[in-house]
Amino acid sequence: MSTAADLLRADLREFAGYKSARSDRITGDVWLNANESAWANEGDAGGACRRYPEPQPLALCQRLAELYDVAPDQLLVGRGSDEAIDVLVRAFCVPGQGAIVTAPPVFGMYAVCARLHGVRVVEVPLIDTAAGLISDIDAMAEAAVANGASLVFVCSPGNPSGELVGMASIVRLLQRLQNRAIVVVDEAYVEYAPQSSLASLVSEHDNLVILRTMSKAHALASARIGVAIAQPELIAMIRRCQAPYPLPGPAVVLALQALEPAALAATAAHVEEAKTERGRVQAALETMAGVGRVYPSAGNFLLVRFGDAEGAYRALLASGVVVRDMRAMPQLDNALRITIGSPEDNQRMLAALRPAEDLAA
Ligand SMILES: Cc1ncc(COP(=O)(O)O)c(C=O)c1O
Repeated sequence: MSTAADLLRADLREFAGYKSARSDRITGDVWLNANESAWANEGDAGGACRRYPEPQPLALCQRLAELYDVAPDQLLVGRGSDEAIDVLVRAFCVPGQGAIVTAPPVFGMYAVCARLHGVRVVEVPLIDTAAGLISDIDAMAEAAVANGASLVFVCSPGNPSGELVGMASIVRLLQRLQNRAIVVVDEAYVEYAPQSSLASLVSEHDNLVILRTMSKAHALASARIGVAIAQPELIAMIRRCQAPYPLPGPAVVLALQALEPAALAATAAHVEEAKTERGRVQAALETMAGVGRVYPSAGNFLLVRFGDAEGAYRALLASGVVVRDMRAMPQLDNALRITIGSPEDNQRMLAALRPAEDLAA
């Protein structure tokens, strides 16, 4: 039996999920099976929104499969990678009994979805080292085994740590947890990283799920397009736990336009520009007196420790520059996370910090 089949909640083994009016690929001219209105909305020019959308839009799945170099049946599209995290927890964790492993202070949605589902969150904190804030992969594996966790979330590139977990570490984790737990590698920011996606490992490892999103590099955060990549059997399992129509039709149209060659080329150029800016901003911050540490980052953001984080945060806000205050997060009591903006945005951010620097000097 595969790891996923072993770990799927026993009460969901025979569960088919909701069968919607669009579940079967039937054909016809007169559609009277979904209680849709016979008339288009006045505000919907062309009436594109009158019908429910395809549950898994074929064209979008094919284009994303090409982009990520996987087979279409290895992929599930949904309402942002947030939805994928949620359906994974719902499919593989028994409420009141299950557990997940996460590495605080990484992205909070893993713990949020687990808590909402009544599932224990086993924390293996990142370790602050000279190389950056890094995941203790072996401790995560042991924590999963010791606590019977069915999901282990690895955020790579890490938000907010910026950490990139190497392929060898992920393979070691997959091998250790084979038949024991599913490893979810959240690659929301991988386009900005020096290492490419680990999606090619999916074919060899039945306990690997890769998460991708169009919210970051593709600049479609509002369209809410996220992707889970795994072996077809696991994809079919989580699909049964998903909302009937996760993707709104207009969002799918937008995503398809964003996957046209010219748009992809522009996206690649923007990613390169963000990477260049990341280096420039990092260098500028490192010369500032009030800056304690700028962590290396494989994402489109920098995690920065300040001598006076409160002063820096206020100085930025006073100039209209909004960054993410990380001070409530474990280990980050003097840190802000700064997204890499346009060159002009970044100049404003750096200029806003200079008076705070003078105060610190
Ligand atoms: C690491 C990570 N994963 C997932 C997400 C959620 O992305 P989406 O917009 O696809 O739901 C975010 C959003 O900030 C993120 O930082």
